[in-house]
Amino acid sequence: MAHLEPEIRKAVAARLRYYNEMGIYDFYQRPAEQVLDQRFAASTPLEEPETMPRTKVVAAALKEDSLAEPVIARPESGISDPVEALRVIREDIGDCTRCRLHKQGRKQIVFGVGNPNADLMFIGEAPGADEDIQGEPFVGRAGQLLTNMIKAMGLGREDVYIANIIKCRPPGNRTPERDECETCSPFLMRQISVVAPKAIVALGAVAAKTLLAINAPMAELRGRWYDFRGTKLAVTYHPAFLLRDPRQKKETWKDLQMVMREMGLPMPSKGVE
Ligand code: URA
Repeated sequence: MAHLEPEIRKAVAARLRYYNEMGIYDFYQRPAEQVLDQRFAASTPLEEPETMPRTKVVAAALKEDSLAEPVIARPESGISDPVEALRVIREDIGDCTRCRLHKQGRKQIVFGVGNPNADLMFIGEAPGADEDIQGEPFVGRAGQLLTNMIKAMGLGREDVYIANIIKCRPPGNRTPERDECETCSPFLMRQISVVAPKAIVALGAVAAKTLLAINAPMAELRGRWYDFRGTKLAVTYHPAFLLRDPRQKKETWKDLQMVMREMGLPMPSKGVE
């Protein structure tokens, strides 16, 4: 990057600043020959294959640009206190207007709640009406069931960290749009990095598909471990779905037992009620 033309350097810096404003601070560079390969192979998928080696962009190169001061390090990096680091992320979100949801009736941003040092993190889809009013994830009916699921594991809400893929309530509780998930999830990624849980449970299809970038039915996604950026991730049914179809609680309990085994938690005999 150090040998870029000034105009290109300026454009790159402007693009990085734009990403910073979107909460994105992690940039990767593909080896040039792979970029060229992709450009000339018409049938090459646009997605980067999982196995492709990645090299972090060299931040120092842009420091030479006095016009642009994009930030390559996340604002919370170097902050060892997770409470403070999460506060910095929340501050970065501000009174967010990055997607359409800010003008579609959301009352407030629902950031996340729980133990900032939690070993276990639950990730749902989006705040509903109760969460929108109270500013806390999973406090409505589905939230009560999630609390029971956590209790069945021998834990309390205060032991885990709970967040959603998106932080604003979609109108009428509709499913979040893909672009809303893409715009909001960089902040969740940063929350995950700060909390650094040993395991993540993705609740429902939106959480699973956004985090894993896999499009498959829930019945296929659940019941096994995934690697999510070096952290174990399990998928289970969303509590709101379990309210509609309580027969699936049995399968959910199997998923939670798999998580408990992995985390070395004692196994109670009672399941999810
Ligand atoms: N459903 C979710 O996915 N998240 C909440 O916070 C509440 C309901």
